[in-house]
Amino acid sequence: MTLLTVWPDNDPGTVVLRTEDGAEIQSELKRLGVRFERWDVVSGLPPTPTSEEVLAAYRENVDRVVEAEGYVLVDAMHMTPSDDPAWRENAAAARKKFLAEHTHDDDEDRFFARGSGVFYLHVGDRVYAVFCEAGDLLSVPANTTHWFDMGTRPDYVSVRFFHDDDGWVGNFTGSPIASLFPDYDTLAASRSY
Ligand SMILES: [Fe+2]
Repeated sequence: MTLLTVWPDNDPGTVVLRTEDGAEIQSELKRLGVRFERWDVVSGLPPTPTSEEVLAAYRENVDRVVEAEGYVLVDAMHMTPSDDPAWRENAAAARKKFLAEHTHDDDEDRFFARGSGVFYLHVGDRVYAVFCEAGDLLSVPANTTHWFDMGTRPDYVSVRFFHDDDGWVGNFTGSPIASLFPDYDTLAASRSY
């Protein structure tokens, strides 16, 4: 289940809000200008699906978002755990890429078709950690300071929406804030089930 945890940005030890209630998560995020939706999960995708297979499975919802938000590019990617040491190395590198606080010139709009990942939004004087799971769509507006943690054993299939070819470049703030807050593995272990 999706989990939202909110802290003051200078105090990772004090939880201001922690909720797994979808409607509450949606309304909290809406105040930040962040779209959050839950889609029905389509079963039967292969373990390592192609982009086309994922997009076909979610065609109706994907088309709706593309039309509403004016995206020009949509694809799907997956991180699928393997015991191959090369995979572990690649996974660690992929995790590190967006683990520090950054912004993008474009919205970062992601749908999780499988697995999970945590988006941390640093808005005003708070940090909002959205632990996304299969069926969740989250849109981080352009220029929002944030970071993303896929955990030490990344496992997800995600659909990505783009307004142009290079909007997903990270502009890193240089802040060490991301390292001060509970990471993906810690949040995953803290959930109620
Ligand atoms: Fe990002």
